[in-house]
Amino acid sequence: MKIINVVGARPNFMKIAPIIDEMRQHSNLNSILVHTGQHYNKEMSKLFFDDLKLPSPDVYLGVGSASHAEQTAKIMVEFEQVLLKEKPDLIIVVGDVNSTIACALTAVKLFIPIAHIEAGLRSFDRTMPEEINRILTDAISDYLFTTCHDANDNLLKEGISKKKIHFVGNVMIDALLKHIDKASQSNILDKLDLIPKSYAALTLHRPSNVDDKKVFVEILTAIEEIQKKIKVIFPIHPRTKKKIAEFKLENRIKKMKNFKIIEAMGYLDFLKLMSDSKFVLTDSGGVQEETTILKIPCITLRETTERPITVTEGTNIIVGSNKEKIIKESLKIVKGIEKKGKIPKFWDGGAAERIVKIILSISKSRKKK
Ligand code: UD1
Repeated sequence: MKIINVVGARPNFMKIAPIIDEMRQHSNLNSILVHTGQHYNKEMSKLFFDDLKLPSPDVYLGVGSASHAEQTAKIMVEFEQVLLKEKPDLIIVVGDVNSTIACALTAVKLFIPIAHIEAGLRSFDRTMPEEINRILTDAISDYLFTTCHDANDNLLKEGISKKKIHFVGNVMIDALLKHIDKASQSNILDKLDLIPKSYAALTLHRPSNVDDKKVFVEILTAIEEIQKKIKVIFPIHPRTKKKIAEFKLENRIKKMKNFKIIEAMGYLDFLKLMSDSKFVLTDSGGVQEETTILKIPCITLRETTERPITVTEGTNIIVGSNKEKIIKESLKIVKGIEKKGKIPKFWDGGAAERIVKIILSISKSRKKK
C-alpha cells in the first residue's frame, strides 16, 4: 500500500512523526513524505525535523507564504503533479492548516482516498481560517480519525457516516510522551537564565489576536501587568514579529523589563519551556492539549476552542482577549490557585498504532475485493 503523508506547517510535524515511525514497522506500507513548504524558516520547520528525527521529505513543494487563495492554489497545482506521478492508495493529512485542505481537495478530485487525522474538532467560529479548513477536509475525507468523543459527535451532526469515524486518540500526545525525557535534558532554561516555576510562557500568533492592532495592544497591556509579578517568556512567531514592527510596538515592549521575546524554538526546547513553567498563556490549539498532559495550567487567549475537552477535563481556561480577565486568571495562578485536570481517554501514546492498524485492515479488505 502506497501512502502519501502530507505536512506543511509547524503544528503538522509532531502529528505526522509518530505515524511515520509506526508505518516503518510494517514492510507492506510504502510511506512517502510530502512537505508543501507552507512553513520554511529554520525555526518553523527544520528544527522540528531534527528534533523529531523525521526523514527528509521525499518531495518538497516549496510554496512559501502568500494570501490564503494563492497559497492554497499553489499547493494544489504542485500536489496534483505528485499524485499523478505517484498514484498513491491513500493520502494522510493532519490538523487544520491550509496545506491540509489544499492536499485533501486535490486528492478527492483524483478519486484518491483521504485519511484526516484530528478530524471533527470545531470551534464553531467560521472567521477562523482553520475552522473552514477543518469542516471542508472532514467533508471530503474517507477515514476520519478523532482525538475525543465530542469530535465524533460533531461529525455525526454534520451527516458524516459513522462507518468513516474512528476514535483513536491523539497523535500529538504520542509525540509528546515519546520525547518528554529527551526534552527534560534541554538546556534552554540555563540559556535563558530561568528557574523552574518562576516564569510564564507565552505563544501568540492567531490573526484575530495579532493582525488587529486594538486586540494586540489589549493583550500586550495585560502582559505589561502580569510581567510585574512573574517573568513572561515569549518565543515569537514570524507573523507576530512582523506585526510588532508594523504597529510600532517595539518601544513599549522594551520598557517591559520582565517580558522576554526570543526566536521561535524547536520542539524539544519548547516542551522543556512549557514543562517547567508556572503557567502558559496561548492562542495555539496544540498547546492547549500539551499543557493538559503536562499538568501545567493553561490560559487560552481566544473566545472559543475547538478542543473543549482541555477545558472540561484538562488544565485549560478560556479567557479571550479581555485584559482584565487575562490579568485576573494569571494572578490567581501566581498566587497558587491552579486548575487541576485529568488525562483524556486514549491520550496515552498509542494513537498512531491504532491508526496504522486500521489502515492495514483497509488494505487487507481491499485486497479481498
Ligand atoms: C499557520 C496556520 C495556523 C497554525 C500556524 C502555526 C493556516 C491557515 N494557518 O498560521 O493554523 O496555527 O501556522 O504556526 O494554515 N512566515 C515566515 N516563515 C515561515 C512561515 C511563515 O516568515 O516559515 C510568516 C510569513 O510572513 C507569513 C506569516 O508568517 O505570511 C504567516 O504564515 P502562514 O503560514 O500564512 O500562517 P500562520 O500564521 O503561520
